[in-house]
Amino acid sequence: MTQLSSTNEWYRKLKRAGQARIEENEGMEDLLGAIRKQGVYGLGSSELREASATLLQEQGTHFSHAVRWLFKRLQHAGLPPSYPCYVGTEVLNASWTEAAVGSGQVAKHTVRLIYELLAYLLEVPELQDHPRRVLLQQRVEELMEKCREHSFSSVPPDTPSADVVKVSLLPESSVSDELIFLRVVQSTELVFHAAARLTARTLEAIAYSDAVEAMGTLHWVVCLESFLLPLLRLLAPMSVEHWLELRPLIVRPSAIQSISFHHLSTQLNELHRILNHPRYASCQHAYLPGCQDLLNRASKAMSTWYKAHTRIATKYGQASHDYKPEGVRWLETQCPLGTVTAEKPAVMAEEDEGGRVSVR
Ligand code: HEM
Repeated sequence: MTQLSSTNEWYRKLKRAGQARIEENEGMEDLLGAIRKQGVYGLGSSELREASATLLQEQGTHFSHAVRWLFKRLQHAGLPPSYPCYVGTEVLNASWTEAAVGSGQVAKHTVRLIYELLAYLLEVPELQDHPRRVLLQQRVEELMEKCREHSFSSVPPDTPSADVVKVSLLPESSVSDELIFLRVVQSTELVFHAAARLTARTLEAIAYSDAVEAMGTLHWVVCLESFLLPLLRLLAPMSVEHWLELRPLIVRPSAIQSISFHHLSTQLNELHRILNHPRYASCQHAYLPGCQDLLNRASKAMSTWYKAHTRIATKYGQASHDYKPEGVRWLETQCPLGTVTAEKPAVMAEEDEGGRVSVR
């Protein structure tokens, strides 16, 4: 795309791009390609910000949700985005059916979206000649295979729109490795978001002494969390050198702002606290050890991820005996899953000869 300088030029370009479905719209493909190449920061100028703001004001309601979000993002191009804005939380989560779907369906929708987000990484021209293309392809395909395991469903999961998949790949920098990093963060965020929704349901189920329902939701939390380590492994094709090049542009959208991560960690801690409450009907007791086991696994998966993430931060931050970036130093002092150990003994229900049930 040629260098655009004036607000009017940007306005015309964006207006054309916003008009049709992305697949049928060369203007949009062109714009997204330019962003993937130069980064939102690289394209940022007061003219682009002004053109996006005007267009949104005048015609915002005519655009699809994804395109509206794109223009909202461009309205701030050149300034550090917030973490939710960088990740595209709004546009990714909007592709959900918010209706009351079952816990399994929540998990399957999430997995389906992750599948599409990752598949698109293999399609974009910017990563075709990546120096570690073979490794990239292998890691993406492993994850896609894992997603396929969860596609067995009586109600097919929602197919995410192509607009959402394409528009959500907006790096800040011109370093192509950021596309991989962004998809890893987005997919991990989707896992945190869905798992947090499900742990909220689990809290409610336990509060109303419905241990069977709690077991079902926890099962899906554990399934979703099984994606966390494979997703971190997808970072392997990204070199430390490239990371250090792109890092200054994304240091502000720190994942400290990941509300889903905080919700999930907090809710897991809270579940450990209330799981053994004394007000279950006796018919529920038999399910409590199963719940405890799943809850332990869910917490374990999160602490394992957290430790692996700290190691990754150490590697990419080039921490050594003599030097530690402040973020890594801070990470090492954290314990987001509190002091609860995953090995806490399960509640046991016992029935004596007279049919009386006691819990220990
Ligand atoms: C190259 C890969 C990564 C590096 C070097 C890295 C580094 C860091 C660092 C240094 C921090 C401390 C806070 C700060 O400095 O702003 C941090 C926090 C955090 N990162 Fe990463 N990170 C990486 C990948 C990821 C990914 C893929 C996710 C997935 C969402 C993620 C999620 C988080 C979260 C949730 C926190 C906040 C932790 C807390 O609240 O205890 N990071 N990361």
